[in-house]
Amino acid sequence: MAASSPSSSSHPMVAVAAFLLTATMAAPAAEALLHDDVEPMWGEDHISFHTGGDGVETLALSLDKDHGSGFRSKGSYIFARYDIDLKLVANDSAGTVTTVYLTPDLVPPEDHDEIDMEFLGNVTGEPYTLHTNIFVNGVGNREQQFRLWFDPSKDFHTYSVEWNPMHIIMLIDGTPIRVYKNEASRGVPFPTLRRLRLDGSLWNADDWATQGGRVKTNWTQAPFHAYYRNFRVTPCTPSPGVASCGDEPPESPRFDKGLDAAALQKVRAEHLLYDYCEDENRFKDDGLPKECTAH
Ligand SMILES: *[C@@H]1O[C@H](CO)[C@@H](O)[C@H](O)[C@H]1NC(C)=O
Ligand SMILES: *[C@@H]1O[C@H](CO)[C@@H](O)[C@H](O)[C@H]1NC(C)=O
Ligand SMILES: *[C@@H]1O[C@H](CO)[C@@H](O)[C@H](O)[C@H]1NC(C)=O
Repeated sequence: MAASSPSSSSHPMVAVAAFLLTATMAAPAAEALLHDDVEPMWGEDHISFHTGGDGVETLALSLDKDHGSGFRSKGSYIFARYDIDLKLVANDSAGTVTTVYLTPDLVPPEDHDEIDMEFLGNVTGEPYTLHTNIFVNGVGNREQQFRLWFDPSKDFHTYSVEWNPMHIIMLIDGTPIRVYKNEASRGVPFPTLRRLRLDGSLWNADDWATQGGRVKTNWTQAPFHAYYRNFRVTPCTPSPGVASCGDEPPESPRFDKGLDAAALQKVRAEHLLYDYCEDENRFKDDGLPKECTAH
C-alpha cells in the first residue's frame, strides 16, 4: 500500500514515533534515563528516581495508608514491544497490587483496550500471583493467573508485552507465558485502533487481592515499595512502502517472532493457576468466549 493511500493516514503519528524512537535507541545506554521516557501519573509525592552505581535509573513507587502511586510512559503506540524490569514489594506484601499494563488515554468506556499484568501480594513466605487480563472495546473477562517460578521481590525480572497485528504475547525474562491471537477474521475482538501507553502502579486492593480478600494490608509494614527500571519500547516497524503495521496482513510471518511454542507450553503446564477458557461453569449461560473455542 502506498504511503499516500487513504487508509494509511489513519495513524500518521506511528511512523513519526517509530522514527524518533529509533533515533533515541541508537544513543548510548547510559543516556537513556528512565525519567526521560516516563512521567508520574498520580501520587507524585510517592514516586522517586534513583541512579545506581551502574548508571541505570530506577523508579520507586511507594504505597502507604494515604495512597499509592503510578506512572506512565510518555510515548504511546499502535503495535509495539514493551519491556520493563520490575522488583516487587518484599516480605509482607499482602493486600498490595503492583502493576504493569498497556492502556489508552482517556477514551469512552466502550473503546477501552487494556493489556494487564497485575502482581497480587501475599503474606511473608507465601507466593505472589500474577493476574493477567485483556480488554478489547471495553470488555475484559479474559483472566489468566500464574504462579511465578521465582521470588519476584528478590531481584529485577523483565516483563514484556509484544503486541503486533498477529498476536499479543506476554513474556517473563523472554519466556512467553500467554498468547492472544488476532482472530478478528472470525469475530474475535483484537485491539488494533488505539494507541497504548505502558503504565505502572502500586496500590492497595486488600478487599480482593490476597487469598480472596481474607488477608488485609498490614499498615504497620508501610511504606511498601516496588521498583522499575530499563523501560524499552520498540514500535512495530512497517514494511517498506507501508505506512503502518496495521496495514499489513496479520498472518505475515514477520510478526511471528519471539514465540517459543515449546517454552510457552511448558510454562503453562507448570505455572498456570487459572484460565478463563477452562472455566466452563462461569460461561455456562452464553458459552465460552469465541477465542477459547477451536476453529
Ligand atoms: C525483608 O526481610 C528481610 C529479612 O528479615 C530484611 O533484611 C529486609 O530488609 C526486608 N525488606 C523489606 C523491604 O522490608
Ligand atoms: C497467597 O498464598 C496462599 C497460600 O499459599 C495461596 O493460596 C494464594 O494463592 C497466594 N496468593 C494470593 C494472591 O493470595
Ligand atoms: C503486622 O506487622 C507487625 C510488625 O511486623 C506484626 O507484629 C503483626 O503481627 C502484623 N500483623 C498481622 C495481622 O500479621
